[in-house]
Amino acid sequence: MLKIGKVAVVPNLILAPISGVTDTYFRRLVKRLGGCGLLYSEMISAEGLCRQHSKTLSYLKFVSEEKPLTVQLYGFDPARMAEAARLVEKTGADMVDINMGCPTPKVVRHGSGAALMRDLDRAEKIITRVKERTSIPLTVKMRAGWSQNTPNYLEVARRAAASGADAICFHPRTKSQRLSGAADWSLITELREALSIPVIGNGDIATPYDALRMEAETGCQGIMVGRAAIKNPWLFRQVRDLAQGKQVYIPSLEERKKFILDYLSLAQRGEEDPRIALAKGKRVVIYLSRKLPQTTLFRRRLNAARSIHQLTEIVEEFFYRLLYEYSSSGELPYQGLSSEGIPPI
Ligand SMILES: Cc1cc2nc3c(=O)[nH]c(=O)nc-3n(C[C@H](O)[C@H](O)[C@H](O)COP(=O)(O)O)c2cc1C
Repeated sequence: MLKIGKVAVVPNLILAPISGVTDTYFRRLVKRLGGCGLLYSEMISAEGLCRQHSKTLSYLKFVSEEKPLTVQLYGFDPARMAEAARLVEKTGADMVDINMGCPTPKVVRHGSGAALMRDLDRAEKIITRVKERTSIPLTVKMRAGWSQNTPNYLEVARRAAASGADAICFHPRTKSQRLSGAADWSLITELREALSIPVIGNGDIATPYDALRMEAETGCQGIMVGRAAIKNPWLFRQVRDLAQGKQVYIPSLEERKKFILDYLSLAQRGEEDPRIALAKGKRVVIYLSRKLPQTTLFRRRLNAARSIHQLTEIVEEFFYRLLYEYSSSGELPYQGLSSEGIPPI
């Protein structure tokens, strides 16, 4: 069982933070599908929270259905990070995470995200100050190092643990790699053996088989999935099926459509600014329709949509046509079905 501080994570399958996607609406829907033991918010600026910036505060929104929930913060100033973490705790979030892996220039330029992996004194101060101001468990999400020449993951994680981190989420690529090359899972094994706090493995899980393989190969206590889960949010349930020796659940087209429409409806009701709801909606529709056939015209129409209402109509029409073709041909309209019958998405 995975226990992070006082929080039990059951099952030990975790939705990774993906900015622009893993908002409160997406997280609620993932949770309803089952199999996911912990959700992470997308990264939130500590500075924005401290300044009570309204857009930043909106990222903090969540409902009890999402619990246990970890809110991820990024920043570089220990006092501001501690203040932001205190605000996170006040919302009732179960844990706080410190982003030490984001490679985006606008984040690292200011010394936040992956830049903390080469400023360990600062990283230590942040963790210590956050622990002083909060009583919820703290996790650190980190990479293998800044570049191939500085693979300092062991030192970073040891110092994080000594400063009070309750678990480490580890994506074994360097900042310079961003998402290129392959995540080196052998580093997860090494880190897990070196630490006495739990290690959550992350990186390149594409199918439910991969999730079980990562756990078996590395011994990591938690498994975090990002890109594959936002294209296939049923993945957590599929991992559970596989672990229990059951037939792996394959969502129907109707269910995929329902997920998308539920997201659009939640975003429309939840967002004050309809332009934000539309932008979020388009992104989620694109991820969820990734492996479906005949998407070229669909994509073009999506991009041209001017309202959630229009977007909803386009989605309804697209699925109506696919379902019609599916029922008349009897073919499962997924592209690239793996031999196990699981879409490799
Ligand atoms: C579009 C996108 C946005 C991301 N946003 C965040 C983020 O806000 N915070 C974070 O720690 N990691 C973020 N990540 C990294 C993921 O959480 C994860 O570590 C990475 O994608 C590797 O895992 P995966 O192979 O399962 O996707 C993001 C990744 C992508 C592709």
